Amino acid sequence: MSLYDSIVITGAAGMLAHALKRAFKARRLSFNAVARREWDITDPPQIELMFEDYQPTLVLNCAAYTKVDLCEEKQAECNDVNGTAVESLAEICRERRAALVHFSTDYVFDGSLSRPLRPDDPIGPQSAYGRSKLLGEQLLQAKAPERWLLIRTAWLYGPNGSCFPQTMINAAKSGKPLKVVNDQTGTPTFTYDLAEATLDLLDRNATGIWHITNSGETTWFDFTRAIIEEFNLKTDLSPTTSAEWKKLKPNSAIRPAYSVLDVSPYEKLVGKPMPHWRDALHRYRLALETP
Ligand SMILES: NC(=O)c1ccc[n+]([C@@H]2O[C@H](COP(=O)([O-])OP(=O)(O)OC[C@H]3O[C@@H](n4cnc5c(N)ncnc54)[C@H](OP(=O)(O)O)[C@@H]3O)[C@@H](O)[C@H]2O)c1
Repeated sequence: MSLYDSIVITGAAGMLAHALKRAFKARRLSFNAVARREWDITDPPQIELMFEDYQPTLVLNCAAYTKVDLCEEKQAECNDVNGTAVESLAEICRERRAALVHFSTDYVFDGSLSRPLRPDDPIGPQSAYGRSKLLGEQLLQAKAPERWLLIRTAWLYGPNGSCFPQTMINAAKSGKPLKVVNDQTGTPTFTYDLAEATLDLLDRNATGIWHITNSGETTWFDFTRAIIEEFNLKTDLSPTTSAEWKKLKPNSAIRPAYSVLDVSPYEKLVGKPMPHWRDALHRYRLALETP
């Protein structure tokens, strides 16, 4: 049995799942992609059934509760999808000797360091979303399938889903003035690049925790400026602070002030740099323009 004999992608309607499907298609690898309506990962009998049907050798779990602000009020639901369900998946993958790839977030860090974060740096999520994703990380490692890969990424965007650039484009087109925080630093990451890097890691038999984002760093404000420029839009854009934003939206989640992830272990492994976030944004525009 080889790793790629029977590939299953969960959360198939999501942004990252779309990019993984594209990457597997480009390699002429067949896969089964299952969306929530066919396979709800919080329902263990459904997980069992899926394993009976597909006998996966590799599961890529793209299912997640990703509405960061809403997680603050829907903590139970968020913990079910991002935490407990990951434990069930890990358990069945261990029993059936399937490899499991799971994705997590820079929001497991508290943002107090000011240099790129390594996989073994201290964690300290500041939001319900971050805590739920950390729970998933911990439960995955506790069940530890024979082969597992935990990939933390950040500020993810791509076609086929609602994401920050699309929100900014829509807002700019509607003529609304935009205020965007300028005191949170991270790295926007294009789903296509994350999908390619995931396959690179699998090809090289990598296991354990990896950080994958585009390279470089920016703030949400500067990212927005780049989006406006890339899409040739005109808007009234001004910076604000996290504190001001919190006053305006008291129910919003706290995000780390600094959450740039250190991608150098990946770059060393594959012998090539991750594409820069600005270059990735340009390719995102081209992807949107290509049917
Ligand atoms: N987006 C980001 O900025 C970001 C940043 C860092 C890390 N990540 C991580 O990257 C991974 C992929 O995120 P993404 O941006 O591709 O997310 P996404 O576009 O929101 O897709 C997530 C998918 O999971 C599905 N889902 C939710 N609950 C489910 C359940 N119980 N059973 C099966 N499917 C379920 C959703 O279906 P519905 O549409 O029906 O809800 C959605 O299609 C996630 O692990 C996320 O935490 C994302």
